[in-house]
Amino acid sequence: MRKPIIAANWKMHKTNKEAQLFIREFKPLIQENKEVDVVLCVPFTQLSTVAEELSGTSIALGAQNMYPREQGAFTGEISPEMLLELGVQYVILGHSERREIFGETDEFIREKIGKALEVGLIPILCVGESLEEKEQGLTQEKCRKQILKGLEGLDAQEVEKIVVAYEPIWAIGTGKNASPQDAEDTISYIRSTLIELFGEEIGQKVRIQYGGSVKPNNIKELMAKSNIDGALVGGASLEPVSFAQIVNYGE
Ligand code: 13P
Repeated sequence: MRKPIIAANWKMHKTNKEAQLFIREFKPLIQENKEVDVVLCVPFTQLSTVAEELSGTSIALGAQNMYPREQGAFTGEISPEMLLELGVQYVILGHSERREIFGETDEFIREKIGKALEVGLIPILCVGESLEEKEQGLTQEKCRKQILKGLEGLDAQEVEKIVVAYEPIWAIGTGKNASPQDAEDTISYIRSTLIELFGEEIGQKVRIQYGGSVKPNNIKELMAKSNIDGALVGGASLEPVSFAQIVNYGE
């Protein structure tokens, strides 16, 4: 059985003060929930504050990116070691906003995945198609390529630890979520690709999230699908009550 994992992606939102207020309100709302792994992926500048606020809870800390080198002349970048030092456990890699706005390639993302695994961070690898690709019937092909290239050359023991997030680009921030059945179909296809590449056992172990306009009113139906193991939540994770409602979807 795969334990559900629901992660917040705050993107470029909140000051430290706002993050602190969020967590103080959020913690008691989910403290009874032992069924779901909860991760907060916050901006770099909030990591220390959030780590402190989360200490003693089972909520995990995540980052939204990293540069795949230990140190060096990389102005403006953050290394995996710097994240580890702050207590970060998860790192989102290959988000479509990084791919589209910052030109990140599958090869670069693969490099980051390898480096994250090497130091013991758990990558949340994001894949998903654009509206144009969806309309051309290329959803599976796009996800397959991103999985193949993003995980190329890794061995099964490494892949077992990662989380995959299927986020159709057209569903991000638009209020148009993929229907639970469409999300399930694509996620089940992604799982079959993982099985083909790394074997049945590993493919069945990897947790695959859905992301794209997840809200308190659609989470339950998404989570009812057998291959959907969680959610990566943008907008609705910015507010403690709505994110808690998502985490507590099973109540
Ligand atoms: P929204 O939930 O705002 O659509 O964002 C999804 C996302 O990009 C999470 O990584």
